[in-house]
Amino acid sequence: MKALILSGGKGTRLRPITHTGAKQLIPVGNKPILYYGVEAIRDAGITDVGIVVGETEAEIREALGDGSAFGIRTTYIRQDAPLGLAHAVKVSQDFLKQDPFVMYLGDNLILDGITPLVREFERDHPNSQILLAHVANPQEFGVAELDGSRVIRLTEKPKHPRSDLALVGVYMFDPRIFEAVNAIKPSFRNELEITDAIQWLIDHGMEVRCHVITGWWKDTGKLQDMLEANRMVLSRLKRSIRGALGPGTRTEGEVAIGEGTTVENSILRGPLILGERCTIRNSYIGPFTSVYDDVTIQNSEIEHSIVLERCVIQDIPVRIEASLIGKEVRIQRSQLKPTAYRFMVGDSSLVDVL
Ligand code: DAU
Repeated sequence: MKALILSGGKGTRLRPITHTGAKQLIPVGNKPILYYGVEAIRDAGITDVGIVVGETEAEIREALGDGSAFGIRTTYIRQDAPLGLAHAVKVSQDFLKQDPFVMYLGDNLILDGITPLVREFERDHPNSQILLAHVANPQEFGVAELDGSRVIRLTEKPKHPRSDLALVGVYMFDPRIFEAVNAIKPSFRNELEITDAIQWLIDHGMEVRCHVITGWWKDTGKLQDMLEANRMVLSRLKRSIRGALGPGTRTEGEVAIGEGTTVENSILRGPLILGERCTIRNSYIGPFTSVYDDVTIQNSEIEHSIVLERCVIQDIPVRIEASLIGKEVRIQRSQLKPTAYRFMVGDSSLVDVL
């Protein structure tokens, strides 16, 4: 069995962060989302892994390399434009050959892994196996209609969903999927949809098995989903202190602090994670916050947030919350006159002021 991880696409819903980087590499709990998928595939015993890449190929290659650090072997497959998930399968045919495979969307996070589902697929050989989950906003997903336990219809992003069962971004296929991806036409959003390809399998009498999963799953395409994924990962965190806790510092709950990080006169209320070589002074870091490497936070308060590497946050009089702060961002208080807000923010940024 092989695996295909989709790490192309544009990430438009996470701009401006994705103007400069791949959305699959945004860290939750200080680990890129993509790594969770790679580890789930490796834990299911699959080592031959194709990585579909687009514009952000260089960055994804740098993050995964030849795969040996994860116990897998990577093959990079270039998709020249993000023309859809079924298009990604098409361009991967030379790699997949006649082998059954798991397709894993690189921005999806399934915390309990996929091992039992892969075992079942290998044992029973349906043509396809899909995962479904009950969601509150089905119109934002592919949606399944069931008759008993049988899937009868799949619709991509329906305006009027006929169920609340969303397609999860992990699919299993045998080689019959190539007939389907070659037969379907582009959708309303001009993509070759994997949802339509699976419908084609159903319409042609092939066996498409489904599982409604009950464990925690998230498509991290949007800010709120990203923060929720971060919360979920941190809720499983265990205390580990490698850095130095200086005078006046109090920690509560599960707190992980990386090497070379120093904390002085601050309150750290977990679950939270601080990366390596950070400096935290006279501050409050609250629950569900992930702070990446080389960040400075002084005279400020922050919680329920993700802060990427090399940021500086200082002298902010009001608590920061529910924020995703990109690399090398400075958020500071100015003493300049006239008293005013002064911004230099990238395209498609969002700034909420008091
Ligand atoms: O997350 C589950 C949902 O994923 C399903 O419910 C939908 O049926 C399915 O179409 C998909 O919807 P999204 O609109 O969220 O897919 P997105 O465009 O975000 O792409 C998913 C991943 O695949 C993402 O990591 C980018 C990558 N990708 C996407 C496209 C369109 C590619 O590598 N190539 C592509 O052409």
